[in-house]
Amino acid sequence: MRLQDKVIFITGGAKGIGGETAKVCAGYGAKIIAVDLNEDVVKKNVEEIKAAGGDAIWAVADVRKRDQIKAAIQKGLDAYGRIDCLFNAAGVDRICGFLDMSDDEYDFNMDINVKGTFITCAEVAKIMIPNKKGRIINTSSIAAVREEAFNGTYCMSKAAVSMMTRVLALELAPYGITTVAIQPGNIETDILRESFTNRGKAEGKDVSEFYAEMEATIPMGYIGQPSEIAEVVAFLCDDRSAYIDGNSILIAGGKIMA
Ligand SMILES: NC(=O)c1ccc[n+]([C@@H]2O[C@H](COP(=O)([O-])OP(=O)(O)OC[C@H]3O[C@@H](n4cnc5c(N)ncnc54)[C@H](O)[C@@H]3O)[C@@H](O)[C@H]2O)c1
Repeated sequence: MRLQDKVIFITGGAKGIGGETAKVCAGYGAKIIAVDLNEDVVKKNVEEIKAAGGDAIWAVADVRKRDQIKAAIQKGLDAYGRIDCLFNAAGVDRICGFLDMSDDEYDFNMDINVKGTFITCAEVAKIMIPNKKGRIINTSSIAAVREEAFNGTYCMSKAAVSMMTRVLALELAPYGITTVAIQPGNIETDILRESFTNRGKAEGKDVSEFYAEMEATIPMGYIGQPSEIAEVVAFLCDDRSAYIDGNSILIAGGKIMA
């Protein structure tokens, strides 16, 4: 199997894109360390992976808390002895217009999406460096390159993740570690449902009207599924993608052309 025995640390590994990636990579033979804030849901995802014959453990951690991420890394090392790949999928999208945004709302998106990715990259890279090998995959978004009204901090946070990825690639390449980002378009998960509901409200539209409007902006004509992102991440964890480094890969059904 193409990911046989690769150890993959996944934040946001309970559900959505991270949860589905855990399942897909386990199906290709990887050992999964699924990390999330949501204990019940991450436990359930790991149980489902094991029931399907996969190998996985879970840990509860808030990506904003360095000590919690370090504890999750230690749990993974105790179970599997090393970490080959990191997939940072934990993220949030709290909608707010620029002028109404409180400092707390600003911090919420930025702390989880940017600082959480920064902390996890740094702590996992320290484990990878002595092995002179590793893969880091961060989750940016189409929102890093395509502005969205009432979604300012999210767009800014994802642009920061793409730039963090480029800088890290320069610093980590000498250690044989590649760092890339994915930029999903509109993918059917809880974040998308909540974001479309709130952005629709902010624009005075009901959710089905906003959904239809968004779908019309996608040249492929449909909202993507988490599995369509998970398969790309599986490829980026695979030795065949070894020369991809520093860039952000858009996976958006052609949306950037719309
Ligand atoms: N769904 C989309 O359309 C879309 C598009 C572009 C980018 N993304 C990004 O994909 C990533 C995954 O999102 P999703 O769509 O699967 O949503 P999701 O809500 O289904 O999954 C997000 C996961 O992150 C976890 N999480 C949130 N805050 C956390 C924290 N502080 N510490 C640890 N875990 C935390 C949640 O518990 C949840 O399990 C996010 O970074 C999101 O911004 C999603």
